[in-house]
Amino acid sequence: MKLIIEKTSKEMGCSAAKMIAREMEKKLALNLCLATGATPIGCLQELVRLHKEEGLDFSKTTSFNMDEYVGLGKTHPQSYYYYLNQHLYQQVNIDRNNTFSPEVLAEASVAAANDYTKLIYEKGGIDLILLGIGRDGHISFNMPKEALHPYTHVEQLSEATVSDNLRFFEKRKEVPTEAITIGLKVILDSRKVILIADGEGKSKIIREFLNDDRITTKLPASFLRLHDDVTIILDEKAAGQIKPEMRLPESKRR
Ligand code: GLP
Repeated sequence: MKLIIEKTSKEMGCSAAKMIAREMEKKLALNLCLATGATPIGCLQELVRLHKEEGLDFSKTTSFNMDEYVGLGKTHPQSYYYYLNQHLYQQVNIDRNNTFSPEVLAEASVAAANDYTKLIYEKGGIDLILLGIGRDGHISFNMPKEALHPYTHVEQLSEATVSDNLRFFEKRKEVPTEAITIGLKVILDSRKVILIADGEGKSKIIREFLNDDRITTKLPASFLRLHDDVTIILDEKAAGQIKPEMRLPESKRR
């Protein structure tokens, strides 16, 4: 795992966007899987800037949402598809026919989840996945538990995550308690992984993640240690509690 510590959150986002752009330039028909939430906003803004000012081409890019709330369709303002549409798709030249998210309005969620796994692999798998991390160490919506799922599945969201998401909804009862998410194997099958985190609020989980080299289902992000091409990009606040002796051999501070 490679660790990059940028000074600010904005620089963290730009650094991730540059890595994504580099991969898009190497392979025009890149299969991307992008996180949602607060952390990736700067990265998405920089991708839009690179498109508008430097001609970054999305015309052959495919984009998969990594997760989606059960019951929130693509046009719901809090759905993750809506988020990517708003922050990226409608501002670049991506073909909407190449943008996918799990079918969360279907009665048979399990079948819909299986179909999504099949779709991802039929399209050639994920070339690059951009992950955020939850305060409890979840990635995508794979929550800390006794056992984790490899493939796309329905996940019950933890109390802490429901509380974290409350900021996006008016009332607690509107916050979805279930999501469809890709699983750990789908994440680890992605050819390149970037994980971003910023702010003091993430420093504790980043410390738990990086100060210990074990793998545990209690901290789903720890499974990234099994992957050969992972870059973690933090701002200084998120990196604040990493012990100097625990910094990874390849880490860089800017
Ligand atoms: C949600 C999303 C994750 C995201 C996480 C952190 O749980 N499913 O993909 O990484 O939140 O979000 P934020 O960046 O807002 O802290």
